[in-house]
Amino acid sequence: MAINTKIAGLHLDSYVINASGPCCTTLKELVDIAESESSAIVMKSCTILPRIGNPEPRYARLPYGSIQSMGLPNLGYREYVRFSSQLKRYKKPVIASIAGLSIDEYVSMVESFNKSDVDMIEVNLSCPNLEEKPIIGYDEIQAGRLLEIISLSAEKPIGIKLPPYYDIIQYKKMAEIIIKHNISFITCINSIPNTLVIDPDTDSPIIRPKNGLGGLCGGYIKPVALANVRTFYELLGNEISIFGVGGISSGRDAFEFLLAGADAVQVATQFEKEGTGCFERINSELGEIMHIKGYNSISQTKGNLNYKWTV
Ligand code: DHB
Repeated sequence: MAINTKIAGLHLDSYVINASGPCCTTLKELVDIAESESSAIVMKSCTILPRIGNPEPRYARLPYGSIQSMGLPNLGYREYVRFSSQLKRYKKPVIASIAGLSIDEYVSMVESFNKSDVDMIEVNLSCPNLEEKPIIGYDEIQAGRLLEIISLSAEKPIGIKLPPYYDIIQYKKMAEIIIKHNISFITCINSIPNTLVIDPDTDSPIIRPKNGLGGLCGGYIKPVALANVRTFYELLGNEISIFGVGGISSGRDAFEFLLAGADAVQVATQFEKEGTGCFERINSELGEIMHIKGYNSISQTKGNLNYKWTV
């Protein structure tokens, strides 16, 4: 079963890759991804300066997903520029993820990654976990300004990682910005921001930063993620590639994202739980489902959500 695909014109050997998030911060973690069946390597969202991130506990597994408020712990973008040249020998796309603390920070990271061995740059517009720092993807004026400046300096395909949207007006405004600034791919969705999980045994929030408010991930958010992929697929058409993220832990989940219109999927919570074996497992489960249903390729299946009701 051919589950190879394309994102922004770049070939991926399979449908499933890691998401920027867990276990992609150090070179050792990135090499583990490189040596797995993940068909690309996405690096942790980086900032100009290294960060230790938020105080612990800042990540918790939950029955159907996870909650996190990591606070962008990362080694600083210079390390990820350096890692990209070491990861090149694995011959799969390397994707930088950048999360500037200001417009200038985003631009200088784009300029550095332009000269690096990364194949694409994912611009994170949706980190929810910094005190006093709004999610730029919810402010279309700021997002438009940022993407206008970035698109002027970009020499590699640029994608954006988006927060979840709910109202059609939000989608339409963002789609307009995406088209206007030549964005090559979108990644949706980031975690649902500012959610609260309480431990009734301790009477406390389950994580510590931001008084317990953190990004909800995993199975809880899959219907929101699917709706975002589908709505952008309908608004953007086939020209702009879509990575689906949010609650993919099986081939069935991946297949749902494929029907919704995702060109490939990224896995975070399940990767943190299961390790690098998840990529091979989900890919082969997806291949099996496609075979049973008589599909031969990703491109033939993509977007084929069936709206014909039998009753
Ligand atoms: C972090 C969380 C995110 O959802 C994200 O997109 C980037 C960084 C974090 O807290 O480290």
